[in-house]
Amino acid sequence: MEDKSSNQIIIQALLEAKDTYVSGEALANTLGLSRVAVWKRLEILSEAGFRFEAIRNRGYRLLEEPTSLHPDLIQVYFNQEGINKPVYFLDSIDSTNTEGMRRLGNGAVAPGLVIARTMSAGRGRLGRSWMAMDTGNLYFSFIFRPNQPLEQLSRLSLWVGLKVCEALRANWDIPVQLKWPNDLLFQGKKLAGMLAESTIDTDHVRHLVFGIGLNVNPNTDHWLTDLANKATSLALAKGQALPLHHVAAVLAKTVFEAYDTYMEGRYMADFETLWTRFDALENQPVKVRRGETLIEGVAAGLDPTGALKITTADGNKIAVHAGDVTLSGTP
Ligand code: BTN
Repeated sequence: MEDKSSNQIIIQALLEAKDTYVSGEALANTLGLSRVAVWKRLEILSEAGFRFEAIRNRGYRLLEEPTSLHPDLIQVYFNQEGINKPVYFLDSIDSTNTEGMRRLGNGAVAPGLVIARTMSAGRGRLGRSWMAMDTGNLYFSFIFRPNQPLEQLSRLSLWVGLKVCEALRANWDIPVQLKWPNDLLFQGKKLAGMLAESTIDTDHVRHLVFGIGLNVNPNTDHWLTDLANKATSLALAKGQALPLHHVAAVLAKTVFEAYDTYMEGRYMADFETLWTRFDALENQPVKVRRGETLIEGVAAGLDPTGALKITTADGNKIAVHAGDVTLSGTP
């Protein structure tokens, strides 16, 4: 049996056993290995950040999961969530979005997911960079071949953002909000950013990459005041570290399902309800910079294409299709 799946079998057995012990003999029999070989594999997993307890005559128990992503643990959690899409795991990469595009171009199976522990050139919206050296966070890019006209996909990334808000509320009771177009906020601070990129060929979107950077358990010791004032994490919101691999699996399942419901046209009934529930800007005074122009007004929901409507002081309604929105009064 190949190394990787042996690891997954061991990890799955220990996860399922929860607080009870799994005997070395049972693992050895399942894997067709000697007990010493099982012990050696556990040693290797320990070096990768797993913590086990070993008790003579009882067996092994999993005490702690690694704090940085481990490909076998990701796979076990993905299996548990019933996700059967390919996961392209990388220790480090320039940008998972760039890598997602490269893989789509090279014929990778899609839908799929590119996930990396760190990125050396992570990208944000509007040409910004996304810092991604902290292994306590999630950097992933979903890859799709929608083969649909661009206008049909105009509300897809909003829909995915709304479903991610819903999943974070439902699973961890964290009251997140969506700030148009694609920021997740907790108490006004940024928890996650999303970047959708596509290639278009004769009016149809051929390749679509949907990247999410989510702060889960970052080391905030090195956060300077400016960052601490603007950013937050699931751990800060919850007051405790969250299980990184489980969060990854729940979010992956959420995004893949959101994509399917959108493509099948089954999103419309819920869209408005979720938008009303999670919109961070509704009726707020906002500023939007569009090139050299600054638009100021009050956020007034979405138009049918997903553009943000702003009511200006003279009563005009302007639809903003792209840009950066700030709440008036914030820098
Ligand atoms: C933003 O808020 O500006 C969007 C940030 C998007 C960051 C994610 S991290 C995973 C994926 N890969 C990237 O290079 N960027 C996105």
